[in-house]
Amino acid sequence: MRNKLIAANWKLNPTSRLEAVNLIEGIKTEIKKTSKNPRQEVVLCVPAIYLGLAQSALLGSEIKLGAQNSYLEEKGAFTGEISALMLAEFGVQYVVLGHSERRSLFGETDEMVSKKSQIALRNNLIPILCVGESLEQRENNLTDSVIISQITKSLENNKINGKNLVIAYEPVWAIGTGKTCSSEEANRVCGLIRAEVQKLYSEEIANQTLILYGGSVKASTIEEQMQKSDIDGALVGGASLVIEEFAQIILKSAK
Ligand code: 13P
Repeated sequence: MRNKLIAANWKLNPTSRLEAVNLIEGIKTEIKKTSKNPRQEVVLCVPAIYLGLAQSALLGSEIKLGAQNSYLEEKGAFTGEISALMLAEFGVQYVVLGHSERRSLFGETDEMVSKKSQIALRNNLIPILCVGESLEQRENNLTDSVIISQITKSLENNKINGKNLVIAYEPVWAIGTGKTCSSEEANRVCGLIRAEVQKLYSEEIANQTLILYGGSVKASTIEEQMQKSDIDGALVGGASLVIEEFAQIILKSAK
């Protein structure tokens, strides 16, 4: 049986240090109220500038720390970038890579994602590798080929073992739109991803790899999604910025 993972992607939020601390403290308090499921992990992927404060705020908590990006080199003349080596120093355990916003707004390619992921793995960070089709691709029946291509290319030269990588299926048209992918379809695509991991690696690795769904996840949608055989958790954007809502998502997915 695979663990459940609920990861928050704060994106470029919140806009003040105080709000960031309040959010972390609020989530910690809410989680303490619920009975813990030892098979569930919670990760907060915060903006890089809040990593230090988040590391301190999460000391002694079971909530893990994640970043939203890291560069494809460890160090050097790459102004403005952050490396996996540095993230590891701040107690970061997870890093979101290849998010559709990075792909579409910052020109990130599968090849870059593959290199970033290799460097993250070398520094013992667990990449949360994001893949997903656009609305146009879906409407043109390209979903499966897009996903397979993203998985194959983004994982090129990556040594994964079933425990050191998480994959998130995030259909681009469901991100921040309020439109959730039906849980049947999300499960079908997550199953397709698992089958591809099996082809690239092994059945054992595919069975151990956590595959999340992301895209307008809410407390009202999570229960049904989590009952599906190939969905092991969620990558949550907007709803992770609202303490009560995120706490409900954690609670409902722990059942
Ligand atoms: P929303 O939950 O706001 O749709 O964002 C999803 C996402 O992009 C998480 O990485």
